[in-house]
Amino acid sequence: MSIKTIITSAFAVTAAVCNAQVYLDTKAPMEDRVKDALSRMTTHEKIKMLHAQSKFTSAGVPRLGIRQLNMDDGPHGVREELEWNTWSPARWTNDSIVAFPSLTCLAATWNRNLSATYGNAISEEFAFRGKDILLGPGCNIQRTPLNGRAFEYVGEDPYLAGEILVPYIKAAQANGVACCLKHFVLNDQEIDRFAANVNVSDRALHEIYLAPFKKAVEQAHVWTIMGSYNMYHNVHCCHNDLLINGILKGEWKWDGALVSDWGGTTNTWEAANGGLDIEMGTYTDGKLKESEFGYNDYYLADPFEKLINEGKIPMSVLDDKAARVLRTIFRTAMNPQKVIGSQCSEAHYQACREIAQEGIVLLKNDKAILPLKADLYKKILVVGDNATRSLTLGGGSSELKTLRDISPLEALRQLYGDKIDFAQGYDAGRALYDQVDKVDPARQEQLKEEALAKAKDADLILFIGGLNKNHKQDCENGDRESYDLSYGQNELIAQLAKIQKNTIVVTFGGNPYAMPWISQVSALAHCWYLGSESGSALCDILSGKVSPSGKLPVTFAARYEDYPYVKYGAKAYPGENKQVHYLEDVFVGYRHFTTSKVKPLYPFGYGLSYTSFAYGKPSVSVNGNKITISVDITNTGKAAGKEVAQVYVQAPKSSIARPVRELKAFAKTKTLNPGEHETLTMTLDKDELRYYDETIKGWALTQGSYTFHVGASSEDLRGKATAEVN
Ligand code: BGC
Repeated sequence: MSIKTIITSAFAVTAAVCNAQVYLDTKAPMEDRVKDALSRMTTHEKIKMLHAQSKFTSAGVPRLGIRQLNMDDGPHGVREELEWNTWSPARWTNDSIVAFPSLTCLAATWNRNLSATYGNAISEEFAFRGKDILLGPGCNIQRTPLNGRAFEYVGEDPYLAGEILVPYIKAAQANGVACCLKHFVLNDQEIDRFAANVNVSDRALHEIYLAPFKKAVEQAHVWTIMGSYNMYHNVHCCHNDLLINGILKGEWKWDGALVSDWGGTTNTWEAANGGLDIEMGTYTDGKLKESEFGYNDYYLADPFEKLINEGKIPMSVLDDKAARVLRTIFRTAMNPQKVIGSQCSEAHYQACREIAQEGIVLLKNDKAILPLKADLYKKILVVGDNATRSLTLGGGSSELKTLRDISPLEALRQLYGDKIDFAQGYDAGRALYDQVDKVDPARQEQLKEEALAKAKDADLILFIGGLNKNHKQDCENGDRESYDLSYGQNELIAQLAKIQKNTIVVTFGGNPYAMPWISQVSALAHCWYLGSESGSALCDILSGKVSPSGKLPVTFAARYEDYPYVKYGAKAYPGENKQVHYLEDVFVGYRHFTTSKVKPLYPFGYGLSYTSFAYGKPSVSVNGNKITISVDITNTGKAAGKEVAQVYVQAPKSSIARPVRELKAFAKTKTLNPGEHETLTMTLDKDELRYYDETIKGWALTQGSYTFHVGASSEDLRGKATAEVN
C-alpha cells in the first residue's frame, strides 16, 4: 500500500467519524449542528456556557471541542486586555489598537458605506485579538443632551440610527465577529442606570426606542444583544420577559443570544425565565471577593442548575439558552470563514480618517473664514485643553489604549509650523469614572490670563474645547450636570472673541451644549470624538483639503429648556424615586422642535459645506410596497463636496397626534465637483410609514396622501412631492 493510499484512507476514516459529529460539520444546517451538540452535552456543560468564566469570556465545552466565547468592548476599538479575573490591565505590550471615531461621529457622516468600512475595519482588529464578540455598537436614543454615554450611540432618530448601524453590523459579522448591540433597551440616561424604571407609552417604545434594535435584528441579523441595567415594568431589562421573550425573541423571531450587561443580572428565577442567555460581570453577592473565583455563584450557574435538577424549570428553557449560545459559537469562534484580521494597519487608519472627516459638522462659517487662508495670518493661537488631550482615554468601558494618535495641536503644527502658538486656557482635570472633578480655581484663572495675553498678539484664534471623557462629561455611570460647557469655557471663549474677531471654535463631545458666545465667533465646527486620526482629520477640514459634509444626528437646542422632556420636570428626567416618565412620548428631538415650532440653534440634519448645492424638484413613485423618491443635487459652488439629502415624511391628518414630519430616507452624494450633479434615488418600504397603534397593539398605516419633503436638514426643506399610499 502506498503512502498516499494510507493517508487517503486515514482521512476517510476520520471523515466518517467527523460526519457522525454533525455539530462539527460546518456545511451542515445550523439547527442540525445545534441539535446534535445539545444531544451530547450534560446539564452541567449546558449551564457552564450560560455565564462568565472570566471578566470577558464564557465557557465552551472542551470535552467536545466546542470553543469558548471571547468578548471585549467596544464599540470604538478593541479594549485593552484586562486580567482574567479583575478590572486591572493585563499589561500586554501588543494590545495597542486604532481608536475609531465615536459612533455619534459615524452617525454624523450619514454615510452607509462608511459605516460598512467601520464595521469591517474594527472587526478585523477584534478578530486579530482573538475576540468573538464585539460589545457594541449602541443605539440607545439621545433623549437628553446630558446623557454621559450618548457619544457611544447614534443620535436622536431611530431611522438614522438603524440605517447607520445595519451596514456596520453586517460588515463586522461577515468577518465572523458577532456584534453585541446595546443596551436593550431604554438605557437613555446614566443617572440611576442600575435602578431607574422607565415608564414609556407602548407607542413611543415601539416607534422610537425599539425601532433601531428591530432594524438591526431584521436587516442585519445581529447575533448577540446586550440587555440594559435599567428596568421596564419594574423588571431589569437583562431578564425582562416582556421585552426579551415577548418582543425580541417572540415578535421579531430573533435567534441570537442575549448577553447581560456586566452586573445587570439580579435574580435567578427572572434570569432563567426572562430570556437571559449569558450572564456576565455579576458581583457574587458579597459571598466572595471579586479577585476570587465566584462564577459558580452566578444566578445562571449553580442556582439555575439546582432549579433544573429539581424540575422546577423545564429542560427546554435550558436547551433554548444553550442553543442560542451554540449558534453564537458556531457563527464566530468556530466559523471557518472568520478572518485572521489585522491590527493597526494603514487601511484602518485611513478608514478612521475618512469617517472622522465626514463626521465633522461645520455649524457656522461667517464670511467664509474657513477653509483657512493661512497666508493671511502671521500668528495663529490655539487655545483649549482638547487641542492636546487624549480623548480616547476615559469615558468608561469604551476607553482605548492606542498605538498612534495625532492630536489637533500636533497636526496643526505639522501643517502651519511656527505660525502656531498654544495656550491651554483652562484645566479640565482628569476625573475618571465615578471620581469628582476638582480643578483649582487659582490655576484656572492663571491659564485664562495666559491665553488672553497671548490672544492680543495673534491674528487668528482657534479655540479647541468642548466636552471630554471625564466623569460627568461624556462618561459612563454619570450624566452632565449642566447644558453649559464646563471649566469656564463660556467666559473664556467670549473674552477671546472680544480681543480677536477672527475666532474659530472647534468642539469635541458626544452631546449638544449651550453656546452663549455663538454670535461673537466667526466659525464653529463640532467634532464628536474622532479617534486616532483626530488631528489629521480636523486639519483636512480646517485647511479645505476636504469640504465638510457631516450633518447633525441630534438637535442642538438654543436653551436646555427647549428639550421636550424638560417642561415635565424631574419626573421626566432624571426621574423621581427611581421612576422616569418619558412624558414627551414620541416627540423626541426634532419631532418636538418641528411640531411645536421651537426654533433650535442648529437643527437635526444640519451641517454646512464649503460649497453650495441646488436641489431639483423631487419626484416620488409608489410601486407595491416600495416608495421611491428621486432628487437631483447640483454643486453650485466653487469647491468639491458631498451633500446629504434627507426625506421627511408628513403623514395625512388622522386622529393620532403625529410629528409634523419624520425622517424616512436619506442619501449622500459622491464628491461632486463644481457644476457636477447627481440624481439620488432613495427607496423606502411602506412599512416605514406606519405608526404603532396602542389600541390594536400593533402597527397601522394611515391611508391617504403623504408629503415627501426633501431637505438639507429637518428645518431646511427644499422641495416636496406627494403620493397616495394605501
Ligand atoms: C457597560 C457595557 C460594557 C460592559 C463591559 C458595562 O458597565 O454598560 O456597555 O460593555 O460594562 O465592560
